Amino acid sequence: MEKFNNLFICDNPLVKVLITELRDINTQSVKFRRLIREISRYIVYESLRDVELTSIEVKTPLDLAKGYKFSNKFILAPILRAGLSMIDGAIDTLTDSQIRHIGLYRNEETLEPVEYYVKLPDNIPDNTIVIIMDPMLATGGSAISAIKTFKKRNAKNIKYLSVIASIQGVKNVLENYPDIKIFTGALDNELNRNGYIVPGLGDAGDRCFGT
Ligand code: PRP
Ligand code: URA
Repeated sequence: MEKFNNLFICDNPLVKVLITELRDINTQSVKFRRLIREISRYIVYESLRDVELTSIEVKTPLDLAKGYKFSNKFILAPILRAGLSMIDGAIDTLTDSQIRHIGLYRNEETLEPVEYYVKLPDNIPDNTIVIIMDPMLATGGSAISAIKTFKKRNAKNIKYLSVIASIQGVKNVLENYPDIKIFTGALDNELNRNGYIVPGLGDAGDRCFGT
């Protein structure tokens, strides 16, 4: 299989088991949302391995202890709709983050992303890590559009989180933005002619929201 420098697959056995349940056609919306929430916590956790820390001291009941705090602030950016399913797990982990929504849908015929909601500051400060999240990275069009939106606003440090990605989508994103790090729970080989990841899990938005 092709190797991608900036792709990180969270292949912890727990994530593998949870994604298997998520893919299952018999998994209904309530369980589907719970699974994505849990998986998202682990993917966020993996995505934090390289973040910078600042040394601090805290007072324990007995003495001073050396410790750490994050050097950066975080923006969590779910892509509507399906990205919403990842936000609860992400904010459980990074409790002190800003949440900034990006509204995108794919045109069903062209598969091109259409932007319908963006409300962001003109400038993202340099000390901010932007974590974009969407459970499905298929052709990569939506990811590229969301990354572009943040880059236009000077975001310097962007991570992209998905639950399932396709090889083609990852390739497309990293060819356009080699500096982005992608974290995913699973990497699937194929896209079908409608741009769905195969075997994937079907339409993530529909399965999350019961539509
Ligand atoms: C899905 C998914 C991603 C996009 C991925 O959204 O949630 O945003 O498709 O496909 P791509 O990599 O080919 O761009 P969809 O357009 O179905 O919108 P929804 O989340 O509102 O259902
Ligand atoms: N969007 C989805 O929800 N699923 C796919 O497989 C591809 C795009």
